[in-house]
Amino acid sequence: MKIAVLPGDGIGPEVTREAVKVLESLDLPHLALSEGDVGGAAYRRHGVPLPPETLEMAHHADAVLFGAVGDPACDDLERHLRPEQAILGLRKELGLFANLRPARVFEGLEHLSPLRPEIARTLDMLIVRELTGDVYFGKKGERTTEDGEREGWDEMAYSAPEIRRIAHVAFRAAKAMGAGLTSVDKANVLETSQVWRDTVTEVAQGYREVALSHMYVDNAAMQVIANPAQFRVMLTGNLFGDILSDLASAAVGSIGLLPSASLGERQTGYGTFGLYEPIHGSAPDIAGEGKANPMATILSAAMMLRHSFGREDEAARIERAVAKALTDGIRGGDLGGDHGTEAIGAAVRERL
Ligand code: NAD
Ligand code: IPM
Ligand code: MN
Repeated sequence: MKIAVLPGDGIGPEVTREAVKVLESLDLPHLALSEGDVGGAAYRRHGVPLPPETLEMAHHADAVLFGAVGDPACDDLERHLRPEQAILGLRKELGLFANLRPARVFEGLEHLSPLRPEIARTLDMLIVRELTGDVYFGKKGERTTEDGEREGWDEMAYSAPEIRRIAHVAFRAAKAMGAGLTSVDKANVLETSQVWRDTVTEVAQGYREVALSHMYVDNAAMQVIANPAQFRVMLTGNLFGDILSDLASAAVGSIGLLPSASLGERQTGYGTFGLYEPIHGSAPDIAGEGKANPMATILSAAMMLRHSFGREDEAARIERAVAKALTDGIRGGDLGGDHGTEAIGAAVRERL
């Protein structure tokens, strides 16, 4: 079970360390971990945020465990040298177009949510975010207007094949869950969204058992807070999915709780190759203080065992251990508690 561990910047190394300890404590056979440089850390050592040897390591692994990238000291570098390019490059180069971001309130933990408990307890949704297209990967640049002013531009595009393959991922998930699917777009304004909506509607023909509805992204943001119960599987594009998943994390209680899986089509001897990372970033405001909540990364490791290694039992054990730790009052600062990163990691391992 070859896992490439890419800790990255800020709290990345702190949270990744705890997830690795959880994996090591499971006595998995043939576990082989290797570590690579990525992000600002890689830029400092190699002059680029995604060194070829790191990409090579990821290519040859069965799965990647990723921390976070991003460093305020790098924000003025040319864009192609910035830490964030590392995660974008990995997603693109590894063909990881399907990003699964489950957001749910664990039973009995409604009080962690800022929503009223009767609303919070209904929050249980899977955000299926397209990950290798959209305005993220369009041409971009800066030019000077006729008035001599700066103008930045980013091209937003989605092709039907790109939409089709992510739609199939979402419909298959909804079918397996016996759930409905909400596709989120901005078809009242954007051409990309019109093609998105029409293509998703076409794909739906092959999934008669899945009830499909469409919603505009502004309304969806409001509805996630007002009435989360209506969402079970939410399908959306790269940019909207980025924003809506941070929003959903706040409704769960903290961004330190939400994991993700990024999948493509490649199969290994164990399952689907994937990259697993918390949805949060490098949190420079608390980096190096041992305060970060590692639960999102630990839950990402659980998703890895499920999707890339077919180990549902161990995945569920990790998820139960995290839920039990929370039930027992183990809380990071993000949830108003005073448990540090290592203490949270240890508490989860004790409950495995
Ligand atoms: P962020 O997610 O890093 O942090 C947002 C807020 O949430 C901060 O107050 C932070 O302290 C808190 N937070 C995040 N994770 C936490 C955790 N595990 N425990 C406790 N608190 C936590 O978002 P940001 O501040 O906008 O971005 C910081 C840097 O991270 C930027 O450079 C950004 O580009 C990058 N980023 C990277 C990724 C990634 O690597 N996939 C994701 C998001 C942001
Ligand atoms: C995320 C992050 C990334 C994204 C950034 C760092 C490129 O916000 O993984 O959610 O926008 O996808
Ligand atoms: Mn994000």
